[in-house]
Amino acid sequence: MGAPDDIEAFRRLVLERSGLILSADKDYLLKTRLEPIARAENFADVASMLRQVRLTPASRLAQRCIDGMATHESFFFRDITPFDQLRDVILPELWKARAATKTLRIWSAACSSGQEPYSLAMLLREQYAKFGDWKIDILATDFSQPILERARTALYSDFEVRRGLSEERQARWLVKEGPAFRIAPEIRAMIQFRHHNLLDGMTGLGPFDLIFCRNVLIYFDPATKAKTLEGIANILAPDGALILGSAETVVGLAGSFEPQQGLRGVFRGKATTQRAVA
Ligand SMILES: C[S@@+](CC[C@H](N)C(=O)[O-])C[C@H]1O[C@@H](n2cnc3c(N)ncnc32)[C@H](O)[C@@H]1O
Repeated sequence: MGAPDDIEAFRRLVLERSGLILSADKDYLLKTRLEPIARAENFADVASMLRQVRLTPASRLAQRCIDGMATHESFFFRDITPFDQLRDVILPELWKARAATKTLRIWSAACSSGQEPYSLAMLLREQYAKFGDWKIDILATDFSQPILERARTALYSDFEVRRGLSEERQARWLVKEGPAFRIAPEIRAMIQFRHHNLLDGMTGLGPFDLIFCRNVLIYFDPATKAKTLEGIANILAPDGALILGSAETVVGLAGSFEPQQGLRGVFRGKATTQRAVA
């Protein structure tokens, strides 16, 4: 597939720029993800492309190859429990806690093709009776420019919308466009999409009342996970909540968070839980 030195250099580059670990047992992934890029970029094979990437690590080609290694799998209301918990437990608390300011700031970190922030916006909009006069901002970020472009277009295939959206939600929040469906304008208007690499720190992003950072930490090494979680701790409101993916945890990684008892995948700043107990 490529000279061992070129492959090793690419592995290091991916780790350095994205935090994603490509262990040697992921060679099949390297091959299947890079072959279409090599063809599209008119290289004879992956080997010659990896040689070029090694020579030009700051190039558009190198960035395209790094992006190509990320897993963008996502779907609407993924794993459903976090959204149910949000509606039934977390939001009712926040409605009370923010009653004076009537503002809510939410971050969907590593939002991929947009299904997560659009699901959040739909859920909030369905609570319109409670927050109709609130100012609610949803920031959605990802480090991959192509996937952010996809998210911004808000256009999904029949297969994608049926993955997670009930018929009722489809009827309410989608507009048919040819063979595809576009998210309704009032939902799109609630979200700002922006490029952001979780490795670049969080300065200038917060504070947030809720942070969804799901199904991205699993690809990072422990040091990168810990650093990302510490960054998140600094921009999450003291009574805010961090929501991770079903296979992710802060345990053993971030001293500043602990799991919220009784909820799945919800983490609170330690200062908050200690105050609540005191
Ligand atoms: C599997 S998707 C998760 C999407 C969504 N959060 C969900 O749970 O359905 C992972 C996303 O993380 C993004 N990603 C990977 N490394 C990143 C980094 N260092 N900074 C920001 N986003 C990153 C990828 O581009 C990809 O879109």
